[in-house]
Amino acid sequence: DDSKIGVKGLVDSGITTIPRFFVHPPETLSDLKSGSAVGSGPDFIPAIDLAGVDSDHGRSVIVEQIRRASSTVGFFQIVNHGVPLGVLERAMASVKGFYEQPTDIKARLYTRERGIGVSYFSNLDLYHSKAASWRDTLLVRLGPKVVDEDEIPEIFRKEVIEWDREIKQLGELLAGLLCEGLGVEANRLKEMTCLEGRVMVGNYYPHCPQPDLTVGLAYHTDPGVLTVVQQDHVGGLQVKYGGVYVDVKPLPGALVVNIGDLLQIISNGEYKSAEHRVLANPKNEARLSMTLFFNPGNRDSLYGPLPEIISAQKPAIYQHFSLMDFMTRFLGKELEGKSLANYY
Ligand code: SIN
Ligand code: FE2
Repeated sequence: DDSKIGVKGLVDSGITTIPRFFVHPPETLSDLKSGSAVGSGPDFIPAIDLAGVDSDHGRSVIVEQIRRASSTVGFFQIVNHGVPLGVLERAMASVKGFYEQPTDIKARLYTRERGIGVSYFSNLDLYHSKAASWRDTLLVRLGPKVVDEDEIPEIFRKEVIEWDREIKQLGELLAGLLCEGLGVEANRLKEMTCLEGRVMVGNYYPHCPQPDLTVGLAYHTDPGVLTVVQQDHVGGLQVKYGGVYVDVKPLPGALVVNIGDLLQIISNGEYKSAEHRVLANPKNEARLSMTLFFNPGNRDSLYGPLPEIISAQKPAIYQHFSLMDFMTRFLGKELEGKSLANYY
């Protein structure tokens, strides 16, 4: 069948060597080897238990754990986060179901255009990046203007809407805890519309026959405020800490949280937006992850370090800027994979 699409299509067609344009340059590949041997999750990437968040004492302990993780690694896992396991499982199964449909059904959503409510694509960043990645992507824009529900394919409509409702609520809780960790009012980020722009990305990483020659997702930092990631049991997500890549080990039922460039800036560098990547998947089963990116909803407001955390001892290390300006820089070529935070 020559109508197959995406990286999954390549794998389904039975290839045993990867096409040339997936092969990454030597510096990326040597880094893959040195990084993947280092570190183990639980020691570096703390799993924070949110069970006690409703008591004053429990909350202050959690605020401190989250503050510490966010100002060092910039990544943490959470357990007892309040999102029912069934919601997580149903969402994951429905997105997987989407990918496993016949090609002609998926092809209707396949596009290279940006800014569409629901889209399915592979290597959209090809013209900006050094080489292609071993991954397919499904993207659903869930806020601030909610995508017309009829636009969402029925195969994951109910499940992703239910998942979004829960993860959105969790994002608001986390944002409050992160604010308290900075010593500012819990509703500060919400008030600045920092959580309104929500994008769900469902990443599908098929088995890769030559995982030493490519990546699942090239190293990057997340540009937005906050990211919540649900990964399955396969593994491959790594975060750079202390100069080396550390595995973010799958923990059943846990969610991964990471700080984005905008929150690094808003927190005046207190919280860290860490570089991370996903290795090409060597296993015989596909890896799936679902991510909810929280971005500001208001493009015209100015964003910058919170005035209440700036003092003579801690002067602002970033300027204020509009989101429009920020996005222009992010989508522009000038960044070349570097953190946006270096540009303000
Ligand atoms: C990412 O969005 O950085 C990747 C998340 C993942 O696939 O684990
Ligand atoms: Fe990311």
